[in-house]
Amino acid sequence: MKQGKVDALLGIVFGDEGKGKVVDVFTPRYDVVARFAGGPNAGHTIIFEGKKFVLRSIPSGIFDEDKINVIGNGCVIAPDLFMAEAHELEAAGYNLRNRLHISKRAHLILPTHRVLDRAYEAAKGKNRVGTTGKGIGPTYSEKASRTGLRVGDILEGFDAKYAALKARHEQILRNLNYTDYDITEEERLWLQGVEYMRQFQLTDTEIELNRYLAEGKNILAEGAQGTMLDIDHGTYPFVSSSSTTTGGVCTGLGVGPSSIGEVFGIFKAYSTRVGAGPFPVELLDETGDRIREIGHEYGAVTGRNRRCGWVDLVALKYAIMVNGVTQLIMMKSDVLDGFETIRACVAYQKDGQRVTDMPYDTQGWTAVYQDLPGWQEDLTQMTAEEQFPEAFRNYIAFLEAELHTPITIISVGPDRAQTIIRNR
Ligand code: IMP
Repeated sequence: MKQGKVDALLGIVFGDEGKGKVVDVFTPRYDVVARFAGGPNAGHTIIFEGKKFVLRSIPSGIFDEDKINVIGNGCVIAPDLFMAEAHELEAAGYNLRNRLHISKRAHLILPTHRVLDRAYEAAKGKNRVGTTGKGIGPTYSEKASRTGLRVGDILEGFDAKYAALKARHEQILRNLNYTDYDITEEERLWLQGVEYMRQFQLTDTEIELNRYLAEGKNILAEGAQGTMLDIDHGTYPFVSSSSTTTGGVCTGLGVGPSSIGEVFGIFKAYSTRVGAGPFPVELLDETGDRIREIGHEYGAVTGRNRRCGWVDLVALKYAIMVNGVTQLIMMKSDVLDGFETIRACVAYQKDGQRVTDMPYDTQGWTAVYQDLPGWQEDLTQMTAEEQFPEAFRNYIAFLEAELHTPITIISVGPDRAQTIIRNR
């Protein structure tokens, strides 16, 4: 039998590219949907049968009764938030129990990890990262320092392991003089969440996934965050703490590189960033406000304003390179309707120096733009590529030529139907 493939669907800029919508369009093509990195810092908004869901840890294949959903070993999971997310889905009539498998090797986010996240941010002062406060950094740090708790620990001797780790965290917090917190209620829900998780299949998902591949099943690896937030390739130290790139698919699911098929890179027709850190294309003016307003650019998890700017080809080229992107997906093109001129960042400059390759330190660079004519038509009404106005076609052709990668899917509105698959 022909071996199955793992296709990766990755945000390739700063996250929030609209992966939720695309996964929804993609899931019918796959047998399994798997998350390989990140945790409840993600917020994949999906509108299904008229109801809006924000998925944080649970894969987007959950709405389709036939799909197996996997939370892989590269993820971190907060039992209380997982329980709340699962309850919401169950209340809406989706059965999760036999269709959601969680890796025993995924790490647990403790209530005290969240306190540590806040404490570390406070200690950084003006150099803070602007994290989502979900305990992501402290949990991955602990994974690397080999002191973390894993999902598999729930199954044996959990209470003692939990008490020991919590005590260690409390000691660190005392050392940091960060003692003004109360996790009593949070911990109660968290422990309930741990009990609740026992009802799920806590398994060796890497073995399971490779068995599926051997059976010829195809897997969609659903990315979280984006390449520029990757722990290795992002704008360090203003990054998340996981591997959000194609490499992270292999380590975060336990599948070999030869099983990777297509790598879909998702980006928006413009750029956004949540949290602190360099963002050379940022527009601190009316244009930025206009993009935020039209694009509803407010964080799905934290509700924060997203910083907005024009498309960044320096970042996109870098992301296509480190991920081996084979196809691009452009989201929210309609947000640019009505602009007289569209700009694209083609280089960065600083102190008389100009670069087109992503620099080691992205601090202090400003964008060099190429201007293109905008379009006045309403893209949301268009159902086929042939209807696109000339200026929009030119924008697409320009991006494809600069990025040396085809844009095969174009989204022109929030609805599933407003997704144009190009004939190529
Ligand atoms: P953390 O992942 O909570 O540690 O946050 C680190 C950085 O990544 C912050 O700038 C966050 O705003 C950003 N971040 C984390 N998750 C997401 C996401 O899903 N979308 C966009 N930004 C994110």
